[in-house]
Amino acid sequence: MTTIAVIPGDGIGPEVIGPALDVLDALGLGVRTDVLDHVNAETYLRTGTALTGADLDRIRSSEAALLGAVGDPRLSDTAYVRGVLTTLRLELDLYVNYRPARLWHDRLSPLRDPARRAIDCVIVRENTEGLYSGIGGGTRTGTPHEIAIDVDLSTRQGVARVLEFAFSVARRSVCLVDKANAVRNGGQLWQRCWSEAVARHPDVEASHLYVDTAALRLATDPTAFDVIVTNNSYGDILSDLTAALAGGLGVAASANLNPVTGRALFEPVHGSAPDIAGTGVANPFGAILSVALLVEHLGRTEEADAVRRAVAAAVAAGRVTPDLGGTLSTKEVGTVVLTELRRP
Ligand code: NAD
Ligand code: IPM
Ligand code: MN
Repeated sequence: MTTIAVIPGDGIGPEVIGPALDVLDALGLGVRTDVLDHVNAETYLRTGTALTGADLDRIRSSEAALLGAVGDPRLSDTAYVRGVLTTLRLELDLYVNYRPARLWHDRLSPLRDPARRAIDCVIVRENTEGLYSGIGGGTRTGTPHEIAIDVDLSTRQGVARVLEFAFSVARRSVCLVDKANAVRNGGQLWQRCWSEAVARHPDVEASHLYVDTAALRLATDPTAFDVIVTNNSYGDILSDLTAALAGGLGVAASANLNPVTGRALFEPVHGSAPDIAGTGVANPFGAILSVALLVEHLGRTEEADAVRRAVAAAVAAGRVTPDLGGTLSTKEVGTVVLTELRRP
């Protein structure tokens, strides 16, 4: 039987994972869940450890994992959040962070020009290297001459494999986003791997933008983009921007993938949202759409599409949480999605 490891986490994490698991259950795929509800800030505060070797073993022995969100205002994000999320990405070598952004309804777009609202793009974010490498340190700490260093790591294997994945999911084009006009990157490693990847895929339209220009283009005409491939930091930032263009963080889903080993971790793009945690209004769509990505990963494309149709119907009917202009609670939206799913 297929087992899914579930980490509800902190803040709104458990609140959105509830409806997401209800949706998974309603699909009747017969999957078993292994819930690691001790992986959270309370455990870290008590034990000083976020994720143990035994937790990692449970996740490794599952078909895939689903995470709500982690983060707690009482804790250092670099110790705790990094200790869970970045550790999972690095330990499981989930080198692709796949972040699709599709506008579910015209009403949700922040753009003024109706012709440019229909965003339907994917950020393919390198997920194990860059400034997230964890290599670095500080010296002369506390003195006026203090120095802090975080190594922006790129390896040929790491760059080549994420570029290859980007081309493999392109429908019409891939745009490389970097800062090659200012950052040396070991003699332009990304640019050299890019030329090789472009040559291997003559059927896909290839383009390149510097990250500042890419942000400008996204904010003015996101319809210009299909797949955007970029490094870990730019992918983090641009995927919040594409989320905003698609209706907000509440609707953004993601997959952390290793297409070679098949390991995968699915999660909404948002965090634990301490500002609304406990109020019952968190939007569960990001988590529910992450379940759609998860079941697609399990080969159940039809079920994934059914989940997306159910979300689209809820959005079209305005049966949504306050972040999307509605008045429903997290639980009520979950019920709406279940009702839509069961509609013949
Ligand atoms: P956040 O995503 O938690 O919240 C940003 C803003 O978006 C907040 O105003 C929040 O209320 C709103 N928002 C987010 N998700 C929403 C939802 N589902 N429905 C409605 N509104 C939503 O980002 P933050 O405030 O920068 O970070 C809070 C904590 O979460 C930090 O500790 C951070 O490190 C962590 N974090 C974790 C993850 C993760 O677990 N994947 C991702 C991002 C941030
Ligand atoms: C994300 C988050 C994480 C990241 C943080 C919480 C470490 O912002 O998944 O986008 O930067 O990758
Ligand atoms: Mn982020």
